[in-house]
Amino acid sequence: MAHCLRITGPTRLEGEVRASGSKNAALPMMAAVLLAEGPVVLAGAPQLADVDRMAQVLRELGVEVLWDEDDTLQMRVIDRRPVHARYKLVRRMRASFCVLGPLVARRGEAVVSLPGGCAIGQRPVDLHLAGLRALGARIALRHGYVVARADRLHGTTIDLAGPYGPTVTGTANVLSAAVLAEGQTTIEHAAVEPEIVELGNLLIAMGAKIEGLGTPTIRVDGVEQLAGATCRVIPDRIEAATLLLAGAITGGQVRVGGIVPDHLTAILDLLRQTGCRVDAGADAVTVRAEGRPRAVDVTAEPYPSVPTDVQAQWMALLSTAEGTSAVRDTVFPSRMAHVAELVRLGARIDQHDGGAVIRGIARLSGAVVTARDLRASAALVLAGLAAEGATTVRAARHLDRGYQRLDLKLAGLGARIERS
Ligand code: UD1
Repeated sequence: MAHCLRITGPTRLEGEVRASGSKNAALPMMAAVLLAEGPVVLAGAPQLADVDRMAQVLRELGVEVLWDEDDTLQMRVIDRRPVHARYKLVRRMRASFCVLGPLVARRGEAVVSLPGGCAIGQRPVDLHLAGLRALGARIALRHGYVVARADRLHGTTIDLAGPYGPTVTGTANVLSAAVLAEGQTTIEHAAVEPEIVELGNLLIAMGAKIEGLGTPTIRVDGVEQLAGATCRVIPDRIEAATLLLAGAITGGQVRVGGIVPDHLTAILDLLRQTGCRVDAGADAVTVRAEGRPRAVDVTAEPYPSVPTDVQAQWMALLSTAEGTSAVRDTVFPSRMAHVAELVRLGARIDQHDGGAVIRGIARLSGAVVTARDLRASAALVLAGLAAEGATTVRAARHLDRGYQRLDLKLAGLGARIERS
């Protein structure tokens, strides 16, 4: 697929669009198949490059992965011997590190590449490893790989508190290992993100005994083995937020359906503060912009606050706001690669440690910009919709990692956007 998106703005988006299944829920849920004695079926899985990458990692680990109809993933372990997740694959998608916990818990051995560098800042995995060690895994780092071994894991108390708050995939890794450990495990400072709750629900459907999902303290009573299960992937709250912000930045009216509005509370509150009208129903939200947005301060924090994964999109919106806004990211303080590109579109942003101050202007102006990570590319697309003239977003392949044809969804709402 072509790697540039060409957008002609400004456009006013109007209409209805449906969110796809959540990428961040689907990835650790896919890794959980490694624990199951039977097939795991995930309905509503998003068709994304990252999901394909996880499928590739799982295939190398002896899992048969098939797409059934459009959005159902059928997975089944056919060979339990492979334990090796290669650098070539893991480096391309950090979340594939989520196979570590299930592998060591079920196969007693795992050789998983360290994920390596990342465009949004340093992303260590020390908490994942400390948690698995506490469960009794013997872990060594060799030639860029984590080599983990255990006869049977043992339940214990694990504190996952990190310097930047809880770790989402770290919680996924430790939880997915603890379900097969002997005895009780208590995970303190666990991530409370809906994606972790959903992983826990899948594990419970497989026979795991888990309490406290969605709270910082998760208790697990280990079981001997887990069965297969069928589960529906929750809607993608980050995609939903991106589409709502697209409505707001274009002065439009957009209804995003097939979502869980409760997962978006902090974002909807902020949108209201910018002056948008926001109507939340049972499974849809409509945003209607009333003129230019008003400036607001945004702090990206762990759930239920504004997610770091929409921090860049907020910066795009606030670049066009009336007044001055301050944006901070407490989860990934150096996730600021989009700032310099938004400035190329005319935005007035002063970056500082962990954040930025944005003085809104009435109209951005189209330019060629380069995306360096997934959410930065979404932010540049939003800015391009609002900018005068042509904007070319290079490296749209980042976008395809985490958005199921965002360009087509936006075109359905009236955007002039094409791949070239
Ligand atoms: C997940 C999401 C990602 C999101 C992020 C924060 C998936 C597949 N990805 O990433 O989209 O942006 O949560 O909501 O779900 N940290 C440590 N030590 C560790 C692990 C993390 O210090 O062992 C730090 C990180 O550097 C970061 C913070 O903790 O500053 C949170 O990171 P974490 O929640 O682990 O992010 P991911 O799970 O990788």
